[in-house]
Amino acid sequence: MMEALRGLGYSTMAALADIVDNSVSAGAYEVRIDFLWAGTASRISILDDGRGMDDTELESAMTLGDKSALADRAADDLGRFGMGLKTASFSQCRRLTVASFRERGTLCCRRWDLDAIAARPNEGWLLFEGPAAGSESFLAPLSGQGKGTLVLWEVLDRVVTDGFTIDDFADLIDGVEARLAMVFHRMLQGPHPSLSLLVNGRPVEPWDPFMSGHAAKPWESPVATQVTASGLVAVACHVLPHRDLLTPDEYDKAGGPEGWTAQQGFYVYRNRRLLLADGWLGLGQGRAWHREEAHRLARVRLDIPNTADADWKIDIRKSTAHPPVSLRPWLTRLAEDTRDRARRVFAYRGSLRPSPGGVPVEQAWRAEHSRSGMRYRIDGKHPAVAAVLEAAGPLLPLVRSMLRVVEETVPMQRMWLDTAENRETPRTGFSGEPTADVVEVLRALYNDMVGRRGMSVESAKALLMRTEPFQNYLDLIEAISSGGV
Ligand SMILES: Nc1ncnc2c1ncn2[C@@H]1O[C@H](COP(=O)(O)OP(=O)(O)O)[C@@H](O)[C@H]1O
Ligand SMILES: [Mg+2]
Repeated sequence: MMEALRGLGYSTMAALADIVDNSVSAGAYEVRIDFLWAGTASRISILDDGRGMDDTELESAMTLGDKSALADRAADDLGRFGMGLKTASFSQCRRLTVASFRERGTLCCRRWDLDAIAARPNEGWLLFEGPAAGSESFLAPLSGQGKGTLVLWEVLDRVVTDGFTIDDFADLIDGVEARLAMVFHRMLQGPHPSLSLLVNGRPVEPWDPFMSGHAAKPWESPVATQVTASGLVAVACHVLPHRDLLTPDEYDKAGGPEGWTAQQGFYVYRNRRLLLADGWLGLGQGRAWHREEAHRLARVRLDIPNTADADWKIDIRKSTAHPPVSLRPWLTRLAEDTRDRARRVFAYRGSLRPSPGGVPVEQAWRAEHSRSGMRYRIDGKHPAVAAVLEAAGPLLPLVRSMLRVVEETVPMQRMWLDTAENRETPRTGFSGEPTADVVEVLRALYNDMVGRRGMSVESAKALLMRTEPFQNYLDLIEAISSGGV
């Protein structure tokens, strides 16, 4: 049975997070995770300063399923099945040693050794006392403190597999660090963090998926709640800033451990601990939404209580969760709204600003929906286009053919591919172009308005301010109309 339980499918990261959960539930503030490379004798230890266990508690903790999954748990308890310590550990190692002591108590130590059990199949559940011979010194860091628990993983057969080198070990450590920074970010961040995590002595910096407090964030919703039979569910929706509004460093960091596209969607938390960030939870209109480029800026925070484990089908690894049927329509609505907003910010490179006074902006392109599909048309009412059509005189047929040719040859496939390949929409609206270029185009239009069309300075200004893409260049319009440039 113990060999079988190794195959539950924990990643090293998920296994470590499960051990850290136990420390958090035991009231620990500081948790130190240490990776020590020694080839096949490598080891990983997790040391906390929580309340610790006495001998009886430790024996129960080492027993599979000694606590019932049906039992009520303290509201801040991160456990559930009474399995995690064992299943998480065995998914990575063959020898699990746990040493613990309570304040003013004595140190107790128990050890499971799968090799010893396999060697003596008729001797039952061999739960040893004390560390393995030669491993005594590995418990030393625990004796240095007043109370706490040390979990030691040795014989890491599922980590140090054939061909695994010290470089792979270093990569593993980096990956674990990045994911712990995400999973426990809410405990690690803020003016009064409730947790301090150290990996090989380095403090783990929290990674906040929602860029809380960033000035360029276009939108975030108030918290919406829904009362269910198994407790209160709370949702807060976020749209992150467009790349153009972030420094390259900020942009890279905000992408998160898996990158921008993968990190979109729901972030499900249970007691402020992230359970999963796995896209759109199978929600969608008709068929389930995938994670697409266009929605990469959408992230939704979802809090569930630990009384809702069964309703949400939380698995032993705490790596999956499924929204109960009764909540799906509500969640779908909130997600759809967030996705819409995120798509607009993405498509307009963050520059979709209404014109002053909220008058609709004159757009250069119209999308025409018809039964036979969609077409993109240049809008003859756009001031830059209208001016040419009016002034064209004998050239009018030629100008019209030119516009029609442009409409009929919009390089859609090309734009589509470029967007997918570069993971970014192509630049439009003069973004990244020199100011002089914008000024040149603006001035030609302005001169035509006040010259040929005889408009007043004020009305020319007002019209330009609600003309795409100049609604983003109000200061230039101001400067041109006052003769400043
Ligand atoms: N670091 C720790 N400090 C104190 N107690 C612990 C620690 N780790 C585990 N325990 C005890 O062992 C029990 C079993 O842990 P575990 O197998 O992870 O199951 P669960 O977390 O679902 O209860 C916990 O409920 C807790 O009482
Ligand atoms: Mg646990």
